[in-house]
Amino acid sequence: MYKIDVGEGVKKLINEVVGFKKNNDQDGIVKCLQEMTENPEAVISSLPDFDCDEVLLYVDDYVTVYYIATSSKILYPPHEHGMIAVSALYKGTETHVFYNRDGENVVERNRVTFEAPAVVDLTIETVHAICTYDDEPNQGLHFYLGDLEGQKRTLWDSDGKNPQQYIHEKYLSLSRPFN
Ligand SMILES: [Fe+2]
Repeated sequence: MYKIDVGEGVKKLINEVVGFKKNNDQDGIVKCLQEMTENPEAVISSLPDFDCDEVLLYVDDYVTVYYIATSSKILYPPHEHGMIAVSALYKGTETHVFYNRDGENVVERNRVTFEAPAVVDLTIETVHAICTYDDEPNQGLHFYLGDLEGQKRTLWDSDGKNPQQYIHEKYLSLSRPFN
């Protein structure tokens, strides 16, 4: 079900991804999102101008879709999704900080910066944090292959400690600016 009014370009893309997910075709999902990031005009023109950096576009039992424009030079806290996640970046760069689990806590392993057009697919076990070193927000669509809103999943503080149930307000309050 759509959470906001979007145009046909976004609807067509989400329909395709839902179809691939129903057929358990993850390669199909990655491929169609790769094509979108290489030619994002239809998606860009069917999204309104958002005044915030994270907007829930769509959720059903198969797929949850967010528009994400990561704010410049803010490191968001480490978290898991509890399901496969695919980031389809069509503007700017997105840096993923990957973590290893260490008992209840998590420890930074490495950082990888992706530049649009790029598709980043993450396993169910992945723990990451995102940021951008760009001077302006990046832009992309994040696809989660399940109902993310109903998912029990963990959020850690910026030191990888204090595991707690993911709550979006808490996620924002644990974010930290950097230079
Ligand atoms: Fe994430």
